[in-house]
Amino acid sequence: MQTLTLTRPDDWHLHVRDGAMLASVVPDTARQFARAIIMPNLKPPVATVDLALAYRKRILAAVPEGMNFQPLMTLYLTEQTTPDDIHRAADCPHVHAVKYYPAGATTNAASGVRELDRVWPVLEAMQDVRLPLLMHGEVTDSDIDVFDREAVFIERHLSRLVDAFPELPMVLEHITTKDSADFVREGPANLAATVTAHHLLLNRNAMFEGGLRPHHYCLPLIKREQHRQALVQVATSGNPKFFLGTDSAPHPRGAKESDCGCAGIYSARNAMAFYTEVFEDAVALDKLEGFASHHGPDFYGLPRNPDRITLVREEEAVPDQVDFGGEPGVPLRAGGKVRWRPLEG
Ligand code: NCD
Ligand code: ZN
Repeated sequence: MQTLTLTRPDDWHLHVRDGAMLASVVPDTARQFARAIIMPNLKPPVATVDLALAYRKRILAAVPEGMNFQPLMTLYLTEQTTPDDIHRAADCPHVHAVKYYPAGATTNAASGVRELDRVWPVLEAMQDVRLPLLMHGEVTDSDIDVFDREAVFIERHLSRLVDAFPELPMVLEHITTKDSADFVREGPANLAATVTAHHLLLNRNAMFEGGLRPHHYCLPLIKREQHRQALVQVATSGNPKFFLGTDSAPHPRGAKESDCGCAGIYSARNAMAFYTEVFEDAVALDKLEGFASHHGPDFYGLPRNPDRITLVREEEAVPDQVDFGGEPGVPLRAGGKVRWRPLEG
Protein backbone atom coordinates (compact mmCIF):
# COMPACT_ATOMS: atom_id res chain seq x y z
CA MET A 1 0.00 0.00 0.00
CA GLN A 2 1.48 3.33 -1.07
CA THR A 3 1.08 6.13 1.44
CA LEU A 4 2.13 9.75 1.61
CA THR A 5 2.54 11.57 4.93
CA LEU A 6 2.61 15.38 5.03
CA THR A 7 2.44 18.23 7.48
CA ARG A 8 -1.31 18.82 7.83
CA PRO A 9 -2.34 21.16 5.00
CA ASP A 10 -4.43 24.35 5.08
CA ASP A 11 -6.89 25.73 2.54
CA TRP A 12 -6.09 29.38 1.81
CA HIS A 13 -9.37 30.14 -0.04
CA LEU A 14 -12.68 28.59 0.99
CA HIS A 15 -16.41 29.34 0.89
CA VAL A 16 -18.49 27.63 3.58
CA ARG A 17 -21.70 29.76 3.38
CA ASP A 18 -23.95 29.87 6.43
CA GLY A 19 -26.80 28.09 8.23
CA ALA A 20 -27.67 24.52 7.21
CA MET A 21 -25.28 24.60 4.23
CA LEU A 22 -22.40 25.60 6.54
CA ALA A 23 -23.12 22.66 8.84
CA SER A 24 -22.95 20.20 5.93
CA VAL A 25 -19.79 21.44 4.25
CA VAL A 26 -17.44 22.31 7.15
CA PRO A 27 -16.78 18.65 8.12
CA ASP A 28 -15.45 17.89 4.61
CA THR A 29 -12.79 20.57 4.99
CA ALA A 30 -12.05 19.84 8.67
CA ARG A 31 -11.31 16.18 7.86
CA GLN A 32 -8.34 17.22 5.71
CA PHE A 33 -7.24 20.73 6.64
CA ALA A 34 -6.22 22.31 9.95
CA ARG A 35 -7.14 25.85 8.90
CA ALA A 36 -8.87 27.67 6.09
CA ILE A 37 -9.11 31.27 4.97
CA ILE A 38 -12.87 31.87 4.97
CA MET A 39 -14.31 34.02 2.21
CA PRO A 40 -16.60 36.83 3.40
CA ASN A 41 -19.08 36.92 0.49
CA LEU A 42 -22.21 36.24 2.54
CA LYS A 43 -25.37 38.29 2.24
CA PRO A 44 -24.89 40.78 3.84
CA PRO A 45 -21.09 40.73 3.38
CA VAL A 46 -18.79 40.07 6.33
CA ALA A 47 -17.43 43.60 6.29
CA THR A 48 -16.64 44.25 9.97
CA VAL A 49 -14.66 42.54 12.73
CA ASP A 50 -17.87 41.97 14.73
CA LEU A 51 -19.52 40.18 11.80
CA ALA A 52 -16.37 38.13 11.22
CA LEU A 53 -16.20 37.07 14.88
CA ALA A 54 -19.86 36.06 14.91
CA TYR A 55 -19.37 34.10 11.66
CA ARG A 56 -16.28 32.42 13.11
CA LYS A 57 -18.36 31.16 16.06
CA ARG A 58 -20.97 29.71 13.70
CA ILE A 59 -18.23 27.92 11.75
CA LEU A 60 -16.62 26.52 14.92
CA ALA A 61 -20.05 25.22 16.00
CA ALA A 62 -20.15 23.18 12.77
CA VAL A 63 -16.81 21.45 13.38
CA PRO A 64 -17.46 17.82 14.39
CA GLU A 65 -16.40 16.69 17.90
CA GLY A 66 -12.81 15.56 18.03
CA MET A 67 -11.70 17.50 14.93
CA ASN A 68 -9.39 20.43 15.31
CA PHE A 69 -10.16 23.06 12.68
CA GLN A 70 -9.51 26.80 12.82
CA PRO A 71 -11.33 29.22 10.51
CA LEU A 72 -9.13 32.19 9.57
CA MET A 73 -11.48 35.09 8.96
CA THR A 74 -11.39 37.79 6.29
CA LEU A 75 -13.18 41.11 5.86
CA TYR A 76 -15.06 42.04 2.69
CA LEU A 77 -13.61 45.26 1.26
CA THR A 78 -16.31 47.78 0.33
CA GLU A 79 -16.08 51.44 -0.62
CA GLN A 80 -17.33 52.15 2.93
CA THR A 81 -14.46 50.30 4.62
CA THR A 82 -12.34 52.75 6.65
CA PRO A 83 -8.73 52.76 7.86
CA ASP A 84 -10.23 52.39 11.35
CA ASP A 85 -11.85 49.10 10.30
CA ILE A 86 -8.37 47.96 9.26
CA HIS A 87 -6.82 48.89 12.59
CA ARG A 88 -9.57 46.97 14.38
CA ALA A 89 -8.93 43.99 12.10
CA ALA A 90 -5.18 44.15 12.76
CA ASP A 91 -5.86 44.06 16.51
CA CYS A 92 -8.10 41.02 16.19
CA PRO A 93 -6.23 37.69 16.29
CA HIS A 94 -8.91 35.98 14.18
CA VAL A 95 -8.93 38.30 11.14
CA HIS A 96 -6.14 37.44 8.73
CA ALA A 97 -6.87 39.30 5.49
CA VAL A 98 -9.18 41.58 3.52
CA LYS A 99 -10.90 40.37 0.35
CA TYR A 100 -11.21 42.62 -2.67
CA TYR A 101 -13.99 41.80 -5.14
CA PRO A 102 -14.35 44.12 -8.11
CA ALA A 103 -18.06 45.00 -7.86
CA GLY A 104 -20.15 42.43 -9.70
CA ALA A 105 -17.23 40.10 -10.51
CA THR A 106 -18.74 36.97 -8.95
CA THR A 107 -21.23 35.49 -6.46
CA ASN A 108 -22.28 38.16 -3.90
CA ALA A 109 -19.79 40.68 -5.21
CA ALA A 110 -22.35 43.48 -5.65
CA SER A 111 -20.96 45.30 -2.56
CA GLY A 112 -17.42 45.15 -3.90
CA VAL A 113 -15.19 47.93 -5.13
CA ARG A 114 -16.13 49.98 -8.22
CA GLU A 115 -13.17 52.40 -8.15
CA LEU A 116 -9.87 51.28 -6.64
CA ASP A 117 -8.98 54.91 -5.92
CA ARG A 118 -11.83 55.08 -3.42
CA VAL A 119 -10.17 52.44 -1.22
CA TRP A 120 -6.61 53.75 -1.59
CA PRO A 121 -6.42 55.06 2.02
CA VAL A 122 -7.68 51.67 3.23
CA LEU A 123 -4.97 49.89 1.24
CA GLU A 124 -2.40 52.25 2.76
CA ALA A 125 -3.65 51.34 6.24
CA MET A 126 -3.43 47.65 5.32
CA GLN A 127 0.13 48.12 4.16
CA ASP A 128 1.02 49.89 7.43
CA VAL A 129 -0.21 46.94 9.50
CA ARG A 130 0.79 44.27 6.90
CA LEU A 131 -2.75 42.91 6.62
CA PRO A 132 -2.90 40.84 3.39
CA LEU A 133 -5.06 41.89 0.45
CA LEU A 134 -6.73 38.91 -1.28
CA MET A 135 -7.83 39.70 -4.80
CA HIS A 136 -10.51 38.34 -7.08
CA GLY A 137 -8.50 39.31 -10.13
CA GLU A 138 -11.02 39.93 -12.89
CA VAL A 139 -12.30 43.09 -14.53
CA THR A 140 -16.06 43.23 -14.97
CA ASP A 141 -16.38 45.34 -18.12
CA SER A 142 -18.97 43.80 -20.42
CA ASP A 143 -16.84 44.64 -23.47
CA ILE A 144 -14.01 42.42 -22.22
CA ASP A 145 -14.29 38.78 -23.22
CA VAL A 146 -15.02 36.63 -20.16
CA PHE A 147 -11.96 34.49 -20.84
CA ASP A 148 -9.70 37.58 -20.85
CA ARG A 149 -10.90 39.26 -17.67
CA GLU A 150 -8.08 37.99 -15.49
CA ALA A 151 -5.35 39.03 -17.92
CA VAL A 152 -6.90 42.50 -18.28
CA PHE A 153 -7.11 42.81 -14.47
CA ILE A 154 -3.33 42.38 -14.31
CA GLU A 155 -2.76 45.07 -16.95
CA ARG A 156 -5.21 47.61 -15.58
CA HIS A 157 -5.14 47.09 -11.82
CA LEU A 158 -2.65 44.59 -10.47
CA SER A 159 0.42 46.20 -12.06
CA ARG A 160 -0.54 49.49 -10.47
CA LEU A 161 -1.19 47.90 -7.05
CA VAL A 162 2.12 46.08 -7.08
CA ASP A 163 3.97 49.30 -7.92
CA ALA A 164 2.13 51.35 -5.32
CA PHE A 165 2.27 48.89 -2.39
CA PRO A 166 5.67 47.23 -2.14
CA GLU A 167 5.11 46.21 1.50
CA LEU A 168 1.49 45.05 1.30
CA PRO A 169 1.14 41.25 1.25
CA MET A 170 -1.08 40.50 -1.77
CA VAL A 171 -2.55 37.24 -2.97
CA LEU A 172 -3.96 36.88 -6.46
CA GLU A 173 -6.61 34.27 -5.70
CA HIS A 174 -7.52 31.24 -7.81
CA ILE A 175 -5.23 32.03 -10.75
CA THR A 176 -6.35 30.54 -14.06
CA THR A 177 -3.92 31.73 -16.73
CA LYS A 178 -0.30 31.55 -17.81
CA ASP A 179 -0.36 35.36 -17.67
CA SER A 180 -1.06 35.25 -13.91
CA ALA A 181 1.39 32.45 -13.26
CA ASP A 182 4.13 34.45 -15.02
CA PHE A 183 3.19 37.76 -13.42
CA VAL A 184 3.26 36.34 -9.90
CA ARG A 185 6.42 34.33 -10.47
CA GLU A 186 8.27 37.35 -11.80
CA GLY A 187 6.66 39.78 -9.35
CA PRO A 188 7.96 41.02 -6.01
CA ALA A 189 8.11 38.83 -2.90
CA ASN A 190 4.98 40.44 -1.39
CA LEU A 191 2.85 39.00 -4.23
CA ALA A 192 1.68 35.37 -4.09
CA ALA A 193 -1.14 33.29 -5.61
CA THR A 194 -3.49 30.48 -4.70
CA VAL A 195 -4.31 27.72 -7.16
CA THR A 196 -7.48 25.60 -7.10
CA ALA A 197 -7.65 21.88 -7.77
CA HIS A 198 -10.17 22.32 -10.58
CA HIS A 199 -7.98 24.78 -12.49
CA LEU A 200 -5.12 22.28 -12.22
CA LEU A 201 -7.23 19.30 -13.31
CA LEU A 202 -9.50 20.65 -16.01
CA ASN A 203 -9.37 22.80 -19.10
CA ARG A 204 -12.31 24.67 -20.56
CA ASN A 205 -13.46 21.70 -22.64
CA ALA A 206 -14.79 20.31 -19.33
CA MET A 207 -17.57 22.90 -19.42
CA PHE A 208 -18.88 21.61 -22.75
CA GLU A 209 -18.12 17.88 -22.74
CA GLY A 210 -21.00 16.34 -24.72
CA GLY A 211 -23.28 19.15 -23.54
CA LEU A 212 -23.37 22.03 -21.11
CA ARG A 213 -21.74 21.08 -17.79
CA PRO A 214 -22.91 23.55 -15.14
CA HIS A 215 -20.93 21.83 -12.39
CA HIS A 216 -17.72 22.85 -14.11
CA TYR A 217 -18.78 26.49 -14.22
CA CYS A 218 -16.87 28.69 -11.80
CA LEU A 219 -15.29 32.12 -11.75
CA PRO A 220 -12.75 32.85 -12.93
CA LEU A 221 -13.64 30.45 -15.74
CA ILE A 222 -11.48 27.42 -16.41
CA LYS A 223 -9.22 28.26 -19.37
CA ARG A 224 -7.42 26.58 -22.29
CA GLU A 225 -5.10 23.59 -21.86
CA GLN A 226 -1.97 25.73 -22.26
CA HIS A 227 -3.05 27.74 -19.23
CA ARG A 228 -3.78 24.62 -17.17
CA GLN A 229 -0.30 23.36 -17.96
CA ALA A 230 1.26 26.65 -16.88
CA LEU A 231 -0.61 26.42 -13.56
CA VAL A 232 0.56 22.84 -13.00
CA GLN A 233 4.08 23.95 -13.77
CA VAL A 234 4.15 26.73 -11.14
CA ALA A 235 2.16 24.82 -8.52
CA THR A 236 4.47 21.82 -8.71
CA SER A 237 7.69 23.86 -9.05
CA GLY A 238 8.32 24.28 -5.32
CA ASN A 239 8.12 28.08 -5.68
CA PRO A 240 6.84 29.42 -2.31
CA LYS A 241 4.74 32.12 -4.01
CA PHE A 242 2.15 29.50 -5.00
CA PHE A 243 -0.04 27.68 -2.51
CA LEU A 244 -3.21 25.68 -2.06
CA GLY A 245 -6.60 27.42 -2.13
CA THR A 246 -9.52 25.27 -3.22
CA ASP A 247 -12.09 28.03 -3.79
CA SER A 248 -14.56 25.27 -2.97
CA ALA A 249 -17.86 27.12 -3.48
CA PRO A 250 -21.00 25.08 -2.79
CA HIS A 251 -24.29 25.92 -4.48
CA PRO A 252 -27.37 23.65 -4.33
CA ARG A 253 -27.89 21.55 -7.46
CA GLY A 254 -30.96 23.58 -8.43
CA ALA A 255 -29.05 26.85 -8.32
CA LYS A 256 -26.48 25.50 -10.77
CA GLU A 257 -28.79 23.58 -13.10
CA SER A 258 -30.87 26.59 -14.00
CA ASP A 259 -31.50 29.28 -16.65
CA CYS A 260 -28.85 31.40 -14.99
CA GLY A 261 -26.71 28.97 -13.04
CA CYS A 262 -24.44 30.05 -10.18
CA ALA A 263 -20.66 29.99 -10.48
CA GLY A 264 -18.80 27.73 -8.07
CA ILE A 265 -17.40 24.20 -7.83
CA TYR A 266 -17.68 22.08 -4.70
CA SER A 267 -14.24 20.48 -4.44
CA ALA A 268 -13.79 20.37 -0.64
CA ARG A 269 -14.98 16.78 -0.25
CA ASN A 270 -11.97 15.24 -2.03
CA ALA A 271 -9.68 18.26 -2.17
CA MET A 272 -6.45 16.61 -1.06
CA ALA A 273 -7.06 13.65 -3.37
CA PHE A 274 -7.43 16.01 -6.34
CA TYR A 275 -4.24 17.94 -5.59
CA THR A 276 -2.33 14.72 -4.95
CA GLU A 277 -3.40 13.36 -8.35
CA VAL A 278 -2.13 16.53 -10.03
CA PHE A 279 1.26 16.32 -8.30
CA GLU A 280 1.50 12.59 -8.96
CA ASP A 281 0.79 13.08 -12.67
CA ALA A 282 3.42 15.82 -12.79
CA VAL A 283 5.92 13.46 -11.08
CA ALA A 284 6.24 16.04 -8.31
CA LEU A 285 4.78 14.37 -5.20
CA ASP A 286 7.84 15.63 -3.32
CA LYS A 287 6.61 19.21 -3.94
CA LEU A 288 3.09 18.64 -2.59
CA GLU A 289 3.93 19.32 1.05
CA GLY A 290 5.42 22.73 0.28
CA PHE A 291 2.41 23.76 -1.81
CA ALA A 292 -0.24 22.37 0.54
CA SER A 293 1.32 22.83 3.98
CA HIS A 294 4.31 25.19 4.05
CA HIS A 295 4.06 28.07 1.57
CA GLY A 296 0.69 29.36 2.81
CA PRO A 297 1.52 29.73 6.51
CA ASP A 298 4.97 31.08 5.64
CA PHE A 299 3.43 33.82 3.49
CA TYR A 300 0.80 34.70 6.13
CA GLY A 301 3.40 34.68 8.91
CA LEU A 302 1.66 31.85 10.76
CA PRO A 303 3.23 28.69 12.17
CA ARG A 304 3.14 25.55 10.06
CA ASN A 305 0.83 22.90 11.51
CA PRO A 306 2.49 20.62 14.05
CA ASP A 307 0.53 17.50 13.11
CA ARG A 308 0.53 15.36 9.98
CA ILE A 309 -1.91 13.61 7.67
CA THR A 310 -1.45 10.43 5.71
CA LEU A 311 -2.93 9.87 2.27
CA VAL A 312 -3.36 6.32 1.02
CA ARG A 313 -3.21 5.48 -2.68
CA GLU A 314 -6.50 3.67 -2.88
CA GLU A 315 -9.40 4.33 -5.23
CA GLU A 316 -12.46 5.84 -3.66
CA ALA A 317 -15.83 6.52 -5.28
CA VAL A 318 -17.20 10.07 -5.29
CA PRO A 319 -20.98 10.07 -4.71
CA ASP A 320 -23.39 11.38 -7.37
CA GLN A 321 -24.55 13.98 -4.92
CA VAL A 322 -24.08 15.16 -1.36
CA ASP A 323 -26.29 16.94 1.14
CA PHE A 324 -26.05 20.72 1.38
CA GLY A 325 -28.25 21.36 4.41
CA GLY A 326 -31.31 19.51 3.13
CA GLU A 327 -30.74 20.26 -0.55
CA PRO A 328 -28.73 18.14 -2.96
CA GLY A 329 -25.33 19.36 -4.10
CA VAL A 330 -22.99 17.98 -6.75
CA PRO A 331 -19.32 17.54 -5.75
CA LEU A 332 -16.44 17.77 -8.21
CA ARG A 333 -16.06 14.43 -10.05
CA ALA A 334 -19.53 13.26 -8.92
CA GLY A 335 -20.06 9.61 -9.81
CA GLY A 336 -16.35 9.14 -10.57
CA LYS A 337 -13.35 7.97 -8.60
CA VAL A 338 -10.37 9.56 -6.90
CA ARG A 339 -7.02 7.82 -6.54
CA TRP A 340 -6.13 8.92 -3.01
CA ARG A 341 -7.92 9.11 0.30
CA PRO A 342 -6.90 10.60 3.64
CA LEU A 343 -6.43 8.04 6.40
CA GLU A 344 -9.01 8.76 9.13
CA GLY A 345 -7.93 9.61 12.68
C1 NCD B 1 -17.52 31.79 -5.61
C2 NCD B 1 -18.83 31.69 -4.83
O1 NCD B 1 -19.75 30.99 -5.26
O2 NCD B 1 -18.92 32.29 -3.74
N1 NCD B 1 -17.74 31.26 -6.93
C3 NCD B 1 -16.82 30.81 -7.78
O3 NCD B 1 -17.16 30.48 -8.93
N2 NCD B 1 -15.55 30.69 -7.44
C4 NCD B 1 -17.05 33.19 -5.62
C5 NCD B 1 -15.66 33.37 -6.16
O4 NCD B 1 -14.67 33.00 -5.52
O5 NCD B 1 -15.53 33.89 -7.28
ZN1 ZN C 1 -13.76 32.13 -4.08
